[in-house]
Order: sequence, then structure tokens, then C-alpha cells
Amino acid sequence: MYNRTWTPEMGRSMERFILLLHFLLVAIFAELIGAGRDECPESRCRHHGPAIRFPFRLKDRQPEHCGYPGFDLYCNDNNQAVLELPSSVKLLVKNINYKSHEIQVYDEHACLPRQLPHLKLSASPFQFKSSYSLGDYTFLNCSSTEESWSQIPCLSGLGYDICAIPSDGFVHDFQLLSCTKVYNVSSLPYELFGYQNIVLHLNWSYSICEDCEAKGRKCGLKKNNRAEPETQCLGKLPKGALTKRLEVIGAVFGSILLVLGIVLVLYRAHRLDKIKKEYQVKIENFLVDYKALKPTRYSYADIKRITNQLKDKLGEGGYGTVFKGNLTNEILVAVKILNNITGNGEDFINEVGTMATIHHVNVVRLVGFCADGSKRALVYEFLPNESLEKFIFSQDDKKHFLGWEKLQDIALGTAKGIEYLHQGCDQRILHFDIKPHNILLDGNFNPKISDFGLAKLCSKEESVVSMTAARGTMGYIAPEMLSRNFGNVSYKSDIYSFGMMLLEMVGGRKNIDIRVENPSQAYFPEWVYNSLDKGEELRIRIEKVGDAKIAKKLTIVGLWCIQWYPVDRPSMKVVVQMLEGDGDNLIMPPNPFASTIQMNSTVTY
Ligand SMILES: *[C@@H]1O[C@H](CO)[C@@H](O)[C@H](O)[C@H]1NC(C)=O
Ligand SMILES: *[C@@H]1O[C@H](CO)[C@@H](O)[C@H](O)[C@H]1NC(C)=O
Ligand SMILES: *[C@@H]1O[C@H](CO)[C@@H](O)[C@H](O)[C@H]1NC(C)=O
Repeated sequence: MYNRTWTPEMGRSMERFILLLHFLLVAIFAELIGAGRDECPESRCRHHGPAIRFPFRLKDRQPEHCGYPGFDLYCNDNNQAVLELPSSVKLLVKNINYKSHEIQVYDEHACLPRQLPHLKLSASPFQFKSSYSLGDYTFLNCSSTEESWSQIPCLSGLGYDICAIPSDGFVHDFQLLSCTKVYNVSSLPYELFGYQNIVLHLNWSYSICEDCEAKGRKCGLKKNNRAEPETQCLGKLPKGALTKRLEVIGAVFGSILLVLGIVLVLYRAHRLDKIKKEYQVKIENFLVDYKALKPTRYSYADIKRITNQLKDKLGEGGYGTVFKGNLTNEILVAVKILNNITGNGEDFINEVGTMATIHHVNVVRLVGFCADGSKRALVYEFLPNESLEKFIFSQDDKKHFLGWEKLQDIALGTAKGIEYLHQGCDQRILHFDIKPHNILLDGNFNPKISDFGLAKLCSKEESVVSMTAARGTMGYIAPEMLSRNFGNVSYKSDIYSFGMMLLEMVGGRKNIDIRVENPSQAYFPEWVYNSLDKGEELRIRIEKVGDAKIAKKLTIVGLWCIQWYPVDRPSMKVVVQMLEGDGDNLIMPPNPFASTIQMNSTVTY
């Protein structure tokens, strides 16, 4: 059909011609057999509007028995079909699917949440058709909020925002300040929020005309005197006074009609198929983009479905267990199910609260989360190469060594990610647990910072962070975390951890390793500092020209970052500059360990 002589224009005129012929024949046919007049014909409010037939009826145009109680529609002044729900909730009809018993409705003023408090679906024949579980929502009137998915712009006004948050959620997840409760709405599908002009999907019971449509028959009300209305299939049209001759003519015309009809249907199906496919691709792309922007809330049942009943375990730790899962065939995710023990509440709030607001190529993306009863889970993008730890501490050095250039890229990417956390957002985000285990690698070995369970938000002006307990992992934790004698806790503490990690990347080993043959090498940072200080060249896994230079550069940057006193460490911005340069102009830092002599290294290790 798509050769050179067949243009879409010709296709359309052909289609129109066949359609016209079809109508003409139908008219003659109907006239010939004298089909009885139908009291409840299918109708529409406007030409391309949704078809309206049983169980729906147009209230002001058709008699009562044409529809099922509760399914009344009317046409408004703009010729749009309107569904009337209990308590005078009126919604425009977008589409009706009689096969799947589904109706799509939307608010005329693109502000569905305005109608939600009055919506009493339980008093109607409809239910929410939602692929996710329903939840209760609390509407808040807030004097000021951060930009957030919970905001409802169409209800908000000058100086206040109306927000809807899950009733069982944490108010602080959403950074809501000075709010008062306005009202509760129960059992709403959660995808109602976050979208602006949402279309509501409602379904009705299959007990109403379950298979009449499937059998190609008409459905209608049964005439009885009982209170409960009943439906029945109305099959054949009344024959009336048909003569044998007319029946023959009818059969002939019928056959012609059938052939023409089939041609038309096939042609249309072909075109529709194409349009539908393009549409599907568009929607999929939108959903992927949309997901990338805002984390989705999942029920625990969703989580189990996504992880295929928790089948594929990726790892386990004190915080919980990580499973592999898939949202769609293409989108793989890692689902971290948090342990049900106390103390994890804060981890969860930290992760969702922090991650929801940030997007950076070097920070792992939070796709969604689950707060369902006591269950807590976090859904991340899946990164196929696991963590940096696997590549730097491996016994099988040959197989896992990434090469110095790759290591340099990973160092730079991680540094940029940390710089973004420190400077790129409204609030400063301190990670407090930078270490190889928390640097994940994607298919191209791009690093992504993960695990924000210990993270802390603070304002950028704040130079000192107050903290009740030390957080972090031994070996990476900055000295001031353990004792305030060494300085104040600040973003410089992350820089220290990054420096320790960098030196481990250089050494290809843990910084402290008492198993090494030469005792002077047990503490790698000190050994590598002394070597460089004596002007020795680093001979660590050097394979090609330039390798030694990169190794030296990473080492010097690492040693700058692990300076004992926070004030002596560079900011992440300077670190990025140092890593991006060729390293020729880098000066050797002072000895990071000088002050440990008097403080004694047992404090830290
Ligand atoms: C409507 O769809 C939901 C699932 O989306 C289902 O749970 C519910 O039973 C359906 N309601 C009716 C009346 O069929
Ligand atoms: C929200 O609060 C403000 C004052 O704080 C008030 O003017 C406004 O009417 C309230 N909005 C709603 C919908 O309650
Ligand atoms: C809203 O729901 C919460 C918990 O679900 C309940 O504690 C509160 O009393 C309700 N508030 C109103 C105004 O109905």
C-alpha cells in the first residue's frame, strides 16, 4: 500500500468514498427491511466525542430505561459530555471503553484536587481504576514550601501553598514548614498528585452487561418491578413484515456491505496501528523522563512485583537488603529494603528527603520509595558494574585493574558529584560516608555516589555542623568527627573521606593493611607521602607512558585532602581543578601526619 503511486491523500479519499458508499447502502438496506426504530440509539454530544450507549444515557435526550441508574450524562453548552457523580461533582468525559468497563474523566478547569474532597465514589457505581494501591491524603495549607511534588498549584494562592501528602507519610520528607491541616481525603490513587491536568480512570462493575458487548449484542434494562435494576442482552432486531423477496435483496446487499466493510476495517486498522504505535512510544518516553524527575511512591505490593517476589538478591548490610528488580523490560532498578528495626527511620527520611531534590550524573538516581505501614524501601537506578570497591581491593589485580586513565575519570566524576552536593543545591548536602563501597559504576564506569543514609542537610552559610554522634566508616572518617579538638565538623569532613578513598585507588589496597610484607608500608598514606617527599617515583602498576604522572597527581591530591586540620584541606571545587589539570604545577602538601605525632594515632585507628 505504501508504494510510490499510493499517497496518504489518495488513501483518505478512498476511505471517504468507501465510507460514503457504506452509509448509502446501509440506508437503503435499513429502508428495505424496515428496521424498527430504536428508542435508545447510540449518541454523542459532538461529532468526535465519546459514544454514549447503555449503561450510559443522555439524561435530557433519552428515556430513563436507556441507561442504568447512576450512569447519567448530559451535554454541556460546549457540547462536551459531562458525568454527574454524587454530591454534584461534575467531570468531563474524555473516553468510554465499554469492553474494559472504564471511563476517563477530567476536570473542566484542570483542577481535579478541588473536587476531590466532595467526591464520594462509594455512593456511585464507579471505582478508581488504578494500577497502584489507594492511599489516604492530608491536605495542608502552608505559608511557604520548597518546590515539591506535593504542591497543588491550582489551589494555592498568593503567600500560601496547598499541599497534599500521604497521611501516613512523614511531614519532614516534604520539607513543609508552618502548615495547617485543611482536610483529609481517603482512598485516592496516588498518581493523582504530581500531575497537573490529570485524567481520572474510573471503572464499573462487570456484573452490568458483562458479555453482551463481547457477543456483539445490545444491552438494556430488564423490565421488572424489583428495586434492584437488572440488565439483559437484547439480541435480534424485530423482524416485522418481511417478505421473502426483500430477504433475498437484503442478503445480497448484506454481502456487498460485508466485503466493503472488511476492506475498510483492514485499511483503518493498518493506519490506526501505526498511529497507536507512535503514540505508545511517546508515552513511554514521557514516563521515563517523568520518572527521572520525581521519585514515585510505591506500595509494598508494588515493590514485591518489581523485585519478582524478592528473588534476586544483590547484597546485604546492616541497613537492609538490596534486590534487583525491573520497572519495565528496559528499566532495571536496585531495591533496598530497609530493616524493620529502630534507627532506620532516620536513614529513610535522610535518603528520600535528600535524594528527591537532586539530579546529577555522578549521583545515583532515586526512582521511587515505599512507605507502606512499617515497610520502607528505596528504589534506585540499577548500575551493572557494582561498586568501586570490587575494582580496587580485588585479589585478582590483573583482571580487575581499570587502568590509570579510568581511575582518574572515576576520581574526577566522584569529585564533581561531591562538589555538586556541597555547592549545587539550595542546601548543602554533606554525605558523611564517602568510601569505595558507596561509589557505584554504571555500564561505562561512570561513578555515581550512593547511600545517603548518613547524609545531613545544612545551609551554605553554616560553616559548622552540630552533631550528636560521629557518623561514617572507620578508615575514612575525618579526625574532627571523632574529637572536636581537631576542628569543627563541616563539608571538609567529606573531603577527608574522599582523600582516603583516592589514596586507596592509587594503592589498590586498603590504606591500613598490616599484612603487607614491609612494615613501613602498613599505613599506605604515610608511606606514599614519604616516598614522594624523598623524590622517589611511584612504581605502582605502571604500564604505559603517562601512568606514573597520573598516579603522582592522584596521590598529591589525595594527600591534600587528608590534611589533619580541616582548614588545611582544599574545597571540592579546588580538588576538581587539581584533578582536571595535568598535575605539573601541583605542589607537595605539608605532611598530613605531623600533628598525629602529638595526638597519637590510636585516636583514629
Ligand atoms: C476497578 O479496577 C480495580 C483495579 O484497578 C479493581 O480492583 C476493582 O475491582 C475494579 N472495580 C470494579 C467495580 O470492577
Ligand atoms: C490558607 O491560609 C491563608 C492564610 O494563611 C488563607 O488566606 C487562605 O485562604 C487559606 N486557604 C485555604 C484554601 O484554606
Ligand atoms: C485526618 O486523618 C488523620 C489520620 O489519618 C487523623 O488523625 C485526623 O484526625 C484527620 N483529620 C481530619 C481533619 O479529618
